[in-house]
Amino acid sequence: MIYGERVRLRHVERDDLSQFVEWLNDPEVTMGLSMHIPLSMDEEESWYEQVLKSPNEERPLCVEVKLGEDWQLIGNSGFFTIDWRSRNGEIGIFIGDKAYWDQGYGTEVVKLILQHGFSTLNLHRIFLRVFADNQRAIRVYEKVGFVHEGRQRQAEYHDGEFHDVIFMGMLRPEWDR
Ligand SMILES: CC(C)(COP(=O)(O)OP(=O)(O)OC[C@H]1O[C@@H](n2cnc3c(N)ncnc32)[C@H](O)[C@@H]1OP(=O)(O)O)[C@@H](O)C(=O)NCCC(=O)NCCS
Repeated sequence: MIYGERVRLRHVERDDLSQFVEWLNDPEVTMGLSMHIPLSMDEEESWYEQVLKSPNEERPLCVEVKLGEDWQLIGNSGFFTIDWRSRNGEIGIFIGDKAYWDQGYGTEVVKLILQHGFSTLNLHRIFLRVFADNQRAIRVYEKVGFVHEGRQRQAEYHDGEFHDVIFMGMLRPEWDR
């Protein structure tokens, strides 16, 4: 378990999958994720089987918030892939429960993932990709200190338009500062 001030990150259980399917069929959530085809429970279960076969450092984590004495699932975050030779890792996040947006949870989760990546996994560089129209997400990454590294022009298509994909990254010395 990885604890922050208001959130904790735990491993994904099979029982979480139906909640993920509900969120990953919400167009407002998936707009930032490029998952535009409706997702079935069977597909999610196949994804979970693959997750269980992947290295444990690269498994997504459940995001939970503390409500009184209980913890409530609100989303998912973690490393997609890690290149151990270059010590580079790519992260992703979604807060599926929209009632929790704009309250600082996304920022806290990204900071926790960075702390985990640099201080536990000993990574040197952590990066992500974000669509240029996802202003909320870009704001989170800028607040945390990610640097804009580059831009793939018109690499994503949704809502009838092409959108640029922005690469953002952070190096270990930048995090330490
Ligand atoms: C992106 C996401 C993780 C952000 O989580 P969150 O908990 O809402 O983020 P926070 O509350 O920590 O921060 C949001 C910031 O964006 C700002 N914001 C919200 N809407 C905005 C907009 N349209 N333009 C600019 N900034 C915006 C908020 O004001 C806040 O900044 P502030 O703290 O300076 O006021 C969450 O909204 C999400 O999961 N979205 C769907 C999936 C997704 O897009 N994932 C990211 C893929 S790269």
